[in-house]
Amino acid sequence: MDLDIVVLISGRGSNLKSLIDKAKSYSIKAVISNKPDAPGLGFAREAAIPAFAFDRRDYGSVKEQKQAIWKKIEELSPGLVALAGFMLIVDAEFIERCSGRIVNIHPSLLPAYPGLDTHRRVLDAKEARHGCSVHYVDGGVDTGPLIAQAQCDCSEGDDVEKLSSRVLALEHELYPWAIDAIARKLIWLENGAVKYSPDARLEAAERGFRIFS
Ligand code: GRF
Repeated sequence: MDLDIVVLISGRGSNLKSLIDKAKSYSIKAVISNKPDAPGLGFAREAAIPAFAFDRRDYGSVKEQKQAIWKKIEELSPGLVALAGFMLIVDAEFIERCSGRIVNIHPSLLPAYPGLDTHRRVLDAKEARHGCSVHYVDGGVDTGPLIAQAQCDCSEGDDVEKLSSRVLALEHELYPWAIDAIARKLIWLENGAVKYSPDARLEAAERGFRIFS
């Protein structure tokens, strides 16, 4: 049986689009945005995926807005929640309730460069390598057990635009693969550690993805 996922976005939604286009062993049950004008909601509508927007102006506080989002996710009861450019901090209490069923994609080789503006910071530090990470979400910002990474070289003459588009192309390969592998039970979380089947190791090696045990 397919793994049902709910994807949370706040903006452009290019990762959502790649998750829609590359879905094999998972199906996207719904898309949720905290921004009613998020362009990514259009990708959900085009694919006839139920899309729900929670406008901050309809709530007394961000806390209430987030509580409405968490309530909606609990009603949908997905097998996995995938954050894809979702710009609100997920409350520790909700993460606790979801126990190991929330994943995120981040544009850096975590644990390096958590937070925002990663491409600019990587360029300023003259790093030789950059990339993206998929990880399970815990109570911190861009922390939590790493699932897989895709890497690229930084080149002379790179600017934020060039580097971010190179990393984004990697994100669009890495995230659907990681979620598909979770759906096929090739990757799972056990006592807080990410575990991989031999097939997961083989597929990661074939695709040039780094895994963590
Ligand atoms: C991506 O770089 C993702 O890694 C980060 O936010 C960005 C979202 O881009 N968490 P998009 O909305 O998926 O195009």
